[in-house]
Amino acid sequence: MSNAPELAPSITVFKGDRSKLKSKVNLLERIQPGYYQSEVDNIYRQSWLPVTSTKEIPKKGDFIVVDVPPLKASLIVVRGQDNQVRAFYNICRHRANKLELDERGNKRVFTCPFHAWSFNTEGKLTGVTDEPQFPGLNRLEHDLIPVHTEVWETFVFVNFAKAPKHSLAQWLGEMHGGYQGFFDDREQIAHWSIEVNANWHVTINAFTEGYHSLFLHRATLPDYQGGKDNPMRHRPYLEVMEHHGRYSAKANPDHHMTPVEKLAFGAGRPLYPAFPQIDTDVPGFPTSVNPGRVSNWAFDITELFPCFVLINGANWHQCMWFWPIDENRTLIRVIDYAYKAQGLGDRLAHAYFRVRNREVFREDISTMEAIHASLKTGVMSHVVLSQQEMLLQKHYSVAAEMVEAGA
Ligand code: FES
Ligand SMILES: [Fe+2]
Repeated sequence: MSNAPELAPSITVFKGDRSKLKSKVNLLERIQPGYYQSEVDNIYRQSWLPVTSTKEIPKKGDFIVVDVPPLKASLIVVRGQDNQVRAFYNICRHRANKLELDERGNKRVFTCPFHAWSFNTEGKLTGVTDEPQFPGLNRLEHDLIPVHTEVWETFVFVNFAKAPKHSLAQWLGEMHGGYQGFFDDREQIAHWSIEVNANWHVTINAFTEGYHSLFLHRATLPDYQGGKDNPMRHRPYLEVMEHHGRYSAKANPDHHMTPVEKLAFGAGRPLYPAFPQIDTDVPGFPTSVNPGRVSNWAFDITELFPCFVLINGANWHQCMWFWPIDENRTLIRVIDYAYKAQGLGDRLAHAYFRVRNREVFREDISTMEAIHASLKTGVMSHVVLSQQEMLLQKHYSVAAEMVEAGA
């Protein structure tokens, strides 16, 4: 900790090693095509990347096709007949046609539309049409090409490296044992995606600090955080880990529920931007939920490096991907989960959460293309980051380290 600058006073409890963090970051170099390519090779090919949820493929033979834009890859993620989850490149081993065209389904066999070669759910080549016309063909050499796959809580992670440097447990570090089934009892209530003309760093940076919430969200979220004791909405807890970072946000105890919020959450459980009263410790909360055990806890935001953000409240969580397409474009995907609805009141709560959340999200994406266009002028190379924006500092420090390690 010796190299870290003195911290200015705030309510924030900081945890972790700040010694390599920098408050000035060169964004101009990061929007150059050559630099971006080195990020693909040294970050995206080396990191464990969450791609989907086990909830999408609960039964044997269930599959989902997911794109991983920075690797230009389409993957089939499938639960095999042995109940194991695996991911394969969605490429037929005959002449490289796209094997599975459906987005999801349940199959025992994947059959290529071109010449009808077939592969089982464990990736084995099981059928070659007119096989005698392939003299000497060794089927064993033409199984689907696997990608390293590991499951953590409800998340399916893949790693594109030939030999990953870390196990998933090592990659996740402190968070690995921290959620213990917290996401299990949830249902998906919304999903959407949007492509924006902005570099991936610019897009993910919009979701890993709370500094902007008082200003950018002044209309949609006027008083849900902050309040008399915390007018600038400082994060009460902020932690940097080896690869990742997280913070907690405090609810405003004087928040006035609007008439619509009262109606929406009157019969169901409160969801963002309303919060149940939570003070420090809640029996049954695993250690990574409200990790600093702060009073008036509202939600946590965790960046799983490089491009995934998990936001979790007491009764909901949101998964966000910021997939780079190239140095100028990002595909943002969002999936919202909430506690399982049992009646109309819960459905109403879910519906309000869905709509309200999307409104806030629209504000969050509103700055991205303008920032990217400004950077493209080349007149401003560096941005400056406050200590409340420490997760951004951490993000850039890990990104730079991985790029330099591969250079
Ligand atoms: S390319 Fe798939 S069977 Fe020919
Ligand atoms: Fe925001």
